[in-house]
Amino acid sequence: MAILISPSILNADLVNLASEIDKIDNADFVHLDVMDNHFVPNLSFGLPVVERIIETTPIPADVHLMINNPDVWAPAYAQAGAASVTFHLEAAQAPIRLARELRKHGVRAGIAVRPATDITPVLDHLSEFDLLLIMTVEPGFGGQSFITSTLPKIAAARQAIDASGHDVWLQVDGGITAETIAAPAEAGAHMFVAGSAVYGSVDPTAEVAKLRSLAEKAYYTGK
Ligand code: DX5
Ligand code: ZN
Repeated sequence: MAILISPSILNADLVNLASEIDKIDNADFVHLDVMDNHFVPNLSFGLPVVERIIETTPIPADVHLMINNPDVWAPAYAQAGAASVTFHLEAAQAPIRLARELRKHGVRAGIAVRPATDITPVLDHLSEFDLLLIMTVEPGFGGQSFITSTLPKIAAARQAIDASGHDVWLQVDGGITAETIAAPAEAGAHMFVAGSAVYGSVDPTAEVAKLRSLAEKAYYTGK
């Protein structure tokens, strides 16, 4: 399975977004963190900014909604032309209904879980989702440290996805750096969000290439 790198612009220079996004043109996606100051204690940007990014960049948008009531708000991000729209299991009223609605708009329907949330309910319904995001920090802020106790959950998700035969992308987000990326890759994640590692680097393009190469070397090959 190909390694996918999705840099988060949360810690980019938000006044110069166009040139910041140009710096990651070797990435597979641009990860857009929408926060509402309710589901998480932080506020970022919303639909108008995401719409404009999608209109102006050729890099497909990987939208991560850290918001309450995604059942109401998520479909508009799909209509805006995102490649994937991921909402939180903890926030959704009817996750399967919402995923089905997102799919109708032709996007990959993603479901995210916080580090301490049980993923069993998601693993029981894998056919309904195209992307499973296991948060490897508590959502809300960039620059936090990777939580290693999420690794068994990543491995369990990989086993369940492989056993199911469904095409579900396994994404990790939070604290992913050149130092930490090997462990989740070895556990079976293949889609990596990295914010501060990429935008805190003097050469974001080189950092994307480095993360990809490290993940490729460590990636789980089936056990
Ligand atoms: C955190 C966000 C992340 C964040 C990652 O809640 O979902 O996407 O930008 O930032 P780093 O890579 O710095 O942990
Ligand atoms: Zn994110």
